[in-house]
Amino acid sequence: MNSRLIANSLRSLKVQNVSVVGSGLMGAGIAQVAAQTGHNVVLNDLNEAALGKAQAGIEKSLGRVAKKMGDEGPKFVEDTMSRMTFTTSIEETAANADLVVEAIVENLGIKQKLFSDLEAAASAQCILATNTSSLPVSAIGANLKDTSRFGGLHFFNPVPMMKLLEVIKANDTSDEVFQAMLDWGKAMNKTTVKCIDTPGFIVNRLLVPYLMEAIRLVERGHATKEDVDIAMKLGAGHPMGPLQLADYVGLDTCKFILDGWHQEYPNEPLFNPVDTLNKLNEEGKIGMKSGEGFYSYKKK
Ligand code: 3HC
Repeated sequence: MNSRLIANSLRSLKVQNVSVVGSGLMGAGIAQVAAQTGHNVVLNDLNEAALGKAQAGIEKSLGRVAKKMGDEGPKFVEDTMSRMTFTTSIEETAANADLVVEAIVENLGIKQKLFSDLEAAASAQCILATNTSSLPVSAIGANLKDTSRFGGLHFFNPVPMMKLLEVIKANDTSDEVFQAMLDWGKAMNKTTVKCIDTPGFIVNRLLVPYLMEAIRLVERGHATKEDVDIAMKLGAGHPMGPLQLADYVGLDTCKFILDGWHQEYPNEPLFNPVDTLNKLNEEGKIGMKSGEGFYSYKKK
């Protein structure tokens, strides 16, 4: 290919129309930030109830951002919302997308099927990406006809506040697609870091064992959960202590990640099951979103 053609094909990967599949906390946050940064956004979920909940959450979060913008605030909210469309149709989601980011349930089979459906409905240039936090990226895209258009875009909760985006090169991600994902991260006002498709990428590979070690320390009776949280906030400068953060991430998510890694690497002691985490999950106490985890979040 001559240099002019290469330049043209690179230019064609510029991302303006972004679709997000899955309107939970992460998907809604990704859609919100994409719309805030001037992209046209389609947010997809299985039913209207989920989309309605996501829209209300996005409006609330935009309100928190707008509060700091003075007189510009109301227009910012209005402009951002005007760039968003909500749909349950996969065809509508994929039709005009330059990029689709998937943020649905962490189930390999369901994700693979979704990407096959998306590929069938999307243009040949459309980039397909997963926000998975625990599954191998390459496995999620394995059934695609064109695996070179596929990679990982891993965001952090709460997406509007967290500055980082991990950009993951899967086995077959082309250089052009990888570069376009990095460029899009910048356009989203995120700082990007690159990582290969390795369990936990950078942040979760370090964060999840740290959270589990904090729980084990409390289990051994070496300190109270309150003191562990205070210690890491004031002694290490973290915005939240590890037990608070585990509740914030979700104890179901923590368990899902840990169990998957333990199954894959049974000899790694850092990935061993954690009794308290299992017990709280059995009791349905999965953190902030359920009203209780290590701490209670029930309104008094
Ligand atoms: N949308 C918009 N603005 C928000 C927001 C949101 N969802 N959450 C917080 N803010 C802003 C608001 O301006 C808020 O002020 P307001 O209450 O007047 O609106 C301001 O932040 C301060 O928020 P809070 O008073 O609620 O509390 P904090 O000062 O502690 O900030 C925090 C909240 C940003 C969540 C901070 O505690 C933090 O950074 N915690 C660590 C989060 C973290 O580590 N996330 C990564 C988890 S790992 C992950 O996601 C990966 C996955 O794969 C598991």
